[in-house]
Amino acid sequence: MEKSTAAIRPVMQPAPKAIVSSRNKKGENNALVVAYCCNCSYDPPMAMVGIVPSRYSYDMIKESGVFVVNLPAKRNKALYDYVGSHSRRDGDKLAEIGATLREGEKVPAPVLADCPIHIECEVVDSIRTGSHEMFVGKIVSVHADKELVQEDGSIDFSAADLL
Ligand SMILES: Cc1cc2nc3c(=O)[nH]c(=O)nc-3n(C[C@H](O)[C@H](O)[C@H](O)COP(=O)(O)O)c2cc1C
Repeated sequence: MEKSTAAIRPVMQPAPKAIVSSRNKKGENNALVVAYCCNCSYDPPMAMVGIVPSRYSYDMIKESGVFVVNLPAKRNKALYDYVGSHSRRDGDKLAEIGATLREGEKVPAPVLADCPIHIECEVVDSIRTGSHEMFVGKIVSVHADKELVQEDGSIDFSAADLL
């Protein structure tokens, strides 16, 4: 197979897609689409999200020290597209799109209840890698739509119909 040199840029296409929700000290709730999102430790369980400092969400996560990773299903496509293309700076996008919010089980941040899977995190570290700041979060709670959680506590991803 013949190969060609391609542009040096982050070309990995992470899956699944993620929406990160947060709250600031004023009590404003927000969410944004985050492609820079991955597991970063099995034991203890940790996840990492990369946020550009110009995002409205950046200061919210910085000052609260918590965030929630919501994994959207195909049915959440409109929500995903909206929060990934509008900033909270210009209005309450979660209210505009009619998102259903619930309080985090373990963290003072909103959970996007319309999504099937939620991962609550407490920030334990962060590193400015360049354009993004990578927030390392200790996973303190994982919850999902009832029918997706199996007897052993694992999530049936095959039934989640993720975006
Ligand atoms: C597919 C996709 C992936 C994105 N990935 C990231 C990301 O990893 N980090 C980030 O800071 N912004 C990312 N964004 C941009 C934010 O979601 C977007 O700028 C959002 O409107 C910011 O909202 P806020 O200003 O209310 O925080 C992505 C957008 C899309 C559509």
